[in-house]
Amino acid sequence: MKITVVGAGAVGASCAEYIAIKDFASEVVLLDIKEGYAEGKAMDLMQTATLNGFDTTITGTTGDYSKTKDSQVAVITSGIPRKPGMTREELIGINAGIVKDVASQLVKHSPDVTIIVVSNPMDTMTYLAHKELNLPKNRIIGMGGALDSARFKYRLSEALECPASDVDGMVIGGHSDTGMLPLTRLATRNSVRVTEFLSEERLSQVSEDTKVGGATLTKLLGTSAWYAPGAAVSSLVQSIACDQKKMFPCSSLLEGEYGLNDICIGVPVIIGKNGIEKIVDIDLNDEEKAKLKESAEAVRKTNGLLE
Ligand code: LAC
Repeated sequence: MKITVVGAGAVGASCAEYIAIKDFASEVVLLDIKEGYAEGKAMDLMQTATLNGFDTTITGTTGDYSKTKDSQVAVITSGIPRKPGMTREELIGINAGIVKDVASQLVKHSPDVTIIVVSNPMDTMTYLAHKELNLPKNRIIGMGGALDSARFKYRLSEALECPASDVDGMVIGGHSDTGMLPLTRLATRNSVRVTEFLSEERLSQVSEDTKVGGATLTKLLGTSAWYAPGAAVSSLVQSIACDQKKMFPCSSLLEGEYGLNDICIGVPVIIGKNGIEKIVDIDLNDEEKAKLKESAEAVRKTNGLLE
């Protein structure tokens, strides 16, 4: 299984590192436009192979898409990250042009590729990739919800004072500070609803902390985060590569599911060798439905900036 990661910045390199450490892929190609950068990151990562015990070959290239030929999965992390105080939506002008170009280059060299979009504003960039490429809709996946759910579980474990492995939960909706919808009602600790353990007030704090998860890190780091985004992408790639059929919330092109059409937004999906193999339509209550609708309206507004 050959995988391409476009963008050798912090997210792209972390993603390549986690893919290699999980040791399920034969080859990862890192591509960047900055001269020598992807080659350098690839070489540095390859020098960890004997230390971390993986057999994946990582190579780097400066902008040569012919090296990505016949990739089964490609990850787009290119574009500029946000700085403290910025929203993801503010990145649209620069990132839209980059994502368009990268996406068409990828498909030119790998017509059967499944694409995972990470660049922000992620839901709009995923929508743009659909419009630009016109691929079967299962083959373009937006990463946000997998990351937001990991952040939600972290915040829940903190509130419950328990290991994160005890916790399960999911964030749907847009990958934005206001659009995320952490499903607190359905979250569990070992099958017991977390609402049994945490007050409404504490749960609403967990939700708020989850929604600004990326912004909190951007403020601390001076740029956007990379470990959890890289790990989230690598889990999606693994679910495709190993046909795991795991369920993640991902930005998917909706055609009537959740009452929404012609939009990419985070909903639970099954990820396997064919990319998005199924959109899981779960029962939301009226409040959750209203919040998802509101989140979709905000994503549509950002999509409108593409024209
Ligand atoms: C974040 C970026 C990847 O949430 O959107 O950290």
